[in-house]
Amino acid sequence: MVNPENRMNAIQLQAKSLGIDLDALPSHIAVIMDGNGRWAKKRGLVRLLGHREGYKTLRRVLLDCSELGIQYLTVYAFSSENWRRPQEEVSGLMALIEAAARDELRLMHQNNVRVRVAGRVSEVPQGLQNALHHGIETTRSNSGITFTLAINYGGRAEIVDAVKTLIKQGIDAEQVSEELISANLYNPDIPDPDLMVRTAGEMRWSNFLVWQSSYSELYVTEKSWPEFGTDQLLEGICQYQGRIRKFGAVVDD
Ligand code: IPE
Ligand code: IPE
Ligand code: MG
Repeated sequence: MVNPENRMNAIQLQAKSLGIDLDALPSHIAVIMDGNGRWAKKRGLVRLLGHREGYKTLRRVLLDCSELGIQYLTVYAFSSENWRRPQEEVSGLMALIEAAARDELRLMHQNNVRVRVAGRVSEVPQGLQNALHHGIETTRSNSGITFTLAINYGGRAEIVDAVKTLIKQGIDAEQVSEELISANLYNPDIPDPDLMVRTAGEMRWSNFLVWQSSYSELYVTEKSWPEFGTDQLLEGICQYQGRIRKFGAVVDD
């Protein structure tokens, strides 16, 4: 049960005033943080400044989700296709993510955040790998929100990696099942996302959580990631709560 009204924090009160049921929040929210480049271009700035601004948004969204009582937040920070970008942008992004991973660790740990990663992490620069592993180890036993950074992540690559693991284990074709594939993804203990958010209006999924998003509810906002605020987060949750999830069955509505 949710706290009585006088013990709620500010964002819970705001959510409640919008009609959000705090006992029926999405357990897992996954976000495609898009539009940093467009945000910068519109202001005559270099793309990397858009990514910096996006970092500020992520800090707030993580805090918002944690205070609301969301259990899992997964964000798409760098896709396996983003290596196609100019080298300067790629190295700038890697440096930004590494600095963020180091600078945010203390606050995340204080807030009981458990850090995870998804993706082919062994292919990112060594300094970033070290920072991520340090974050994961430090926060391993925390019991608050699980924050997963998808980095060098591709949904198809994740399925390929799971299949490779099964073959290495010598699994028979007859034994292959959806459960077995799910159990060999990068974070098998994390439930599928209930709500998937994309910013900057793009109506595609760009290889994010391909396997896990089969029955996720979708929310796309025109706002770019640097402009994404608490209002949009709550709007996404409102829309989610207005949907009827059927999972292929017949449900009276
Ligand atoms: C999302 O913003 C961040 C990353 C992909 C790392 P973009 O950089 O894709 O921004 P747009 O889509 O070019 O505006
Ligand atoms: C998806 O955004 C990847 C991340 C947000 C990290 P992109 O901007 O790379 O996707 P496309 O290229 O528009 O499909
Ligand atoms: Mg983009």
